[in-house]
Amino acid sequence: MRKRMAVVLAAGKGTRMKSQLPKMLHAINGLSMVEHVVRAVQQNHVEDIVSIVGYGADQVEATLGSSSSYAFQAEQLGTGHAVLQAKDLLIDKEGSTLVICGDTPLLTSETLNKLFETHENSSSSATVLTAIVGDSTGYGRVIRDENQTVVKIVEQKDANASELAVREINTGTYVFDNQKLFKALEKVTNDNAQGEYYLPDVIEIMKNDGDTVSAHILEDMNEAIGVNDRVALAKAGQILTKRINDYHMRNGITLVNPTNTYIEVDVEIGQDTIIEAGVSLKGKTTIGSNCVIGSNSEIDSSVIADYVAIKQSVIEYSQIAEKVTIGPFAHLRPQSVIGEEVHIGNFVEVKNSNVGAKTKAGHLTYIGDADIGQDVNVGCGTIFVNYDGKHKHRSKVGDNAFIGCNANIVAPVEVGNRAFVAAGATITKNVEDEALAISRVDQKNIPNYWEKLQNK
Ligand code: UD1
Ligand code: CA
Repeated sequence: MRKRMAVVLAAGKGTRMKSQLPKMLHAINGLSMVEHVVRAVQQNHVEDIVSIVGYGADQVEATLGSSSSYAFQAEQLGTGHAVLQAKDLLIDKEGSTLVICGDTPLLTSETLNKLFETHENSSSSATVLTAIVGDSTGYGRVIRDENQTVVKIVEQKDANASELAVREINTGTYVFDNQKLFKALEKVTNDNAQGEYYLPDVIEIMKNDGDTVSAHILEDMNEAIGVNDRVALAKAGQILTKRINDYHMRNGITLVNPTNTYIEVDVEIGQDTIIEAGVSLKGKTTIGSNCVIGSNSEIDSSVIADYVAIKQSVIEYSQIAEKVTIGPFAHLRPQSVIGEEVHIGNFVEVKNSNVGAKTKAGHLTYIGDADIGQDVNVGCGTIFVNYDGKHKHRSKVGDNAFIGCNANIVAPVEVGNRAFVAAGATITKNVEDEALAISRVDQKNIPNYWEKLQNK
């Protein structure tokens, strides 16, 4: 196999996005567009990836990190000028160079592999990835001669009426013979409607130099979408959502309403789990098998074991063991670790806490910075008072403890194993194992109070 290299074009501002954020960094399904592109490239045994950065270069480099090396394009003078910035890094090498735009996030690694292979199995100097689309507005048109050979690519703004009618478009993705690419780029001018150095012009230049150029037509035109504005961003998101959701359904997961279910690229789900309508699964979330994720739940970067049932709840950066039931309307904030068969009920918030197996917190409770043992009953309205106005403190509750309703557990404090906290108690001192803590004024009844009030 010939050496494979890649140039990712990511220097443009993306004016049509009307955004402070560089276009490349707008995300679909949890990854920025340029990361989708670099991932697909990485899966193709590409040895050198050079990203051309310019607008928002620092942000783009921070996002891609060491997955790429970088060449800086100070002024965005066109896609041809952009590729030329990689010359110093690549000119000495021999092999095939993929050029791909950072704003075509739906191209799959399989497609890129086919493009590489088509090129490698031919004697062409350039192989361009094209697509036949219903509406070619905005794309460069692929012009073929009477023998159906590709002769040039014409940008929309430079096209005549018959060229405008062509429905075969340039996806902005090409594989070139590396040496020939940089040779041809030297001849590209900016003598066109936009005053830019167009990369696609190298096709005609190579042709005139007697080189062979060829095209590989994309099977699924949905992959070709180049995102230039937020309408296209949403369209790309819909297509990717369908791709991801179809993948999970084929893997044995039920999506009750797949067009209304948002799953990001790195989410994993086990067999026979049911995902109801309106669910968002984000980040590096892993869900086990046989779970039910109820409608409108949002789960971000969390690990959920098998047989977990969640109703209308929000879960972030947390871990949930087997057979847990959560919700409706619970909120698990970061670093919540929930043990097996725990029940977290309605209007319960948990943060940075460990909750032992079989513990129950059924209603209206705040558990913050606490380590709660196994089989504990946390009564309705209990608050783990973790903040003194300046610092956060932890509290601890032992196994089999019973916390009555509406208790305040004022951290730092410890409640022992099998200890009891009476309803309404405010606990500021440790409670030893098996003791009962009460801290409330004794009840006093004033008899005949109604009558006293009438006589006032
Ligand atoms: C480009 C192609 C067009 C193709 C379309 C596919 C050109 C001249 N036209 O048009 O034939 O149909 O993609 O989506 O190439 N960029 C730079 N530096 C620059 C200019 C652009 O890095 O100086 C980057 C952009 O950030 C973007 C990519 O190159 O990632 C494409 O640029 P864009 O302006 O979006 O080109 P299109 O008009 O879409
Ligand atoms: Ca584009």
